Amino acid sequence: MTLILRDKASLRAWRAKVTEGTRIGFVPTMGALHEGHMSLMAQARETADVVIASIFVNPLQFGPNEDLSRYPRPIEADIEKLERAGVDALFLPTVEDMYPTGASTLVEETLVSGPLCGAMRPGHFRGVTTVVLKLFNLVQPHVAVFGQKDAQQCAVIERMVRDLDVPVEIARGPIVREADGLALSSRNVYLSAEDRAAAPLIHKSLQAVAAAHAAGEHDAERLAEIGRSMLAQSDRIKVQYWDVRDPESLGAITTVGARGALCAVAAHLGATRLIDNLVIGPE
Ligand code: PAJ
Repeated sequence: MTLILRDKASLRAWRAKVTEGTRIGFVPTMGALHEGHMSLMAQARETADVVIASIFVNPLQFGPNEDLSRYPRPIEADIEKLERAGVDALFLPTVEDMYPTGASTLVEETLVSGPLCGAMRPGHFRGVTTVVLKLFNLVQPHVAVFGQKDAQQCAVIERMVRDLDVPVEIARGPIVREADGLALSSRNVYLSAEDRAAAPLIHKSLQAVAAAHAAGEHDAERLAEIGRSMLAQSDRIKVQYWDVRDPESLGAITTVGARGALCAVAAHLGATRLIDNLVIGPE
């Protein structure tokens, strides 16, 4: 049975009862769970004795014109999935419990958060770091698992944990994809049939760039251009960014060197924004 902890007080009571030496694995989510999320639960299970997930649609990380109110919330189905996966506990707090009136402290990482999604979604990563640090303080896990699907989110959280001496190990789980390459996302349900059919081109553009890199192209801008021009073939896909960046700092690079690079893309299909990425190299 998955124990459901609906507020901070019950979570703290649960945490206090976990005996010393028990390794806690934590998977924070916003729900609408799919195989991508579930792979992180399985990864946590491999490295920890107890696995706890959280479901919290964090208002702080949504911009004013984003999809907070229509974000899918199939909570019963989510709980069933967690039960079946043998997840020990679920933290399911309310917005009022997480953000009591008058809360006036934010956590901001100021470098890795800058480019890519950070540039397109002002305040987004500040919302993520604030909620993730709060969740870490409440759950006090030994290891927390995040998906490579959100590579910039992983990099930002790794930097926050390092800079603020947060005593938690961060593990990354690989991107889980549909058979045609589309990365699983809670937002895929918004896609029209036509947009769904076009969406796998995003992954194909990443693969084409990886192939060009393997064939000897190391110029970051020329590689990005290959990706962009491939997505330009579809008039349904509106690219927001298609960039080749340093895999850790996410800073701009001119050449893909021994450290390798993160190829990252964000695009709109209709009103739905999808992101995907692929690491090329390192040598
Ligand atoms: P959410 O979008 O629900 O994602 C929860 C976790 O699942 C993240 O670590 C994300 O990278 C991972 N994930 C999503 N799709 C995946 C896929 N196809 N393959 C592998 N992992 C995947 O990310 C968030 O929630 C929030 O920002 C959160 C960290 C919970 C803070 O609010």
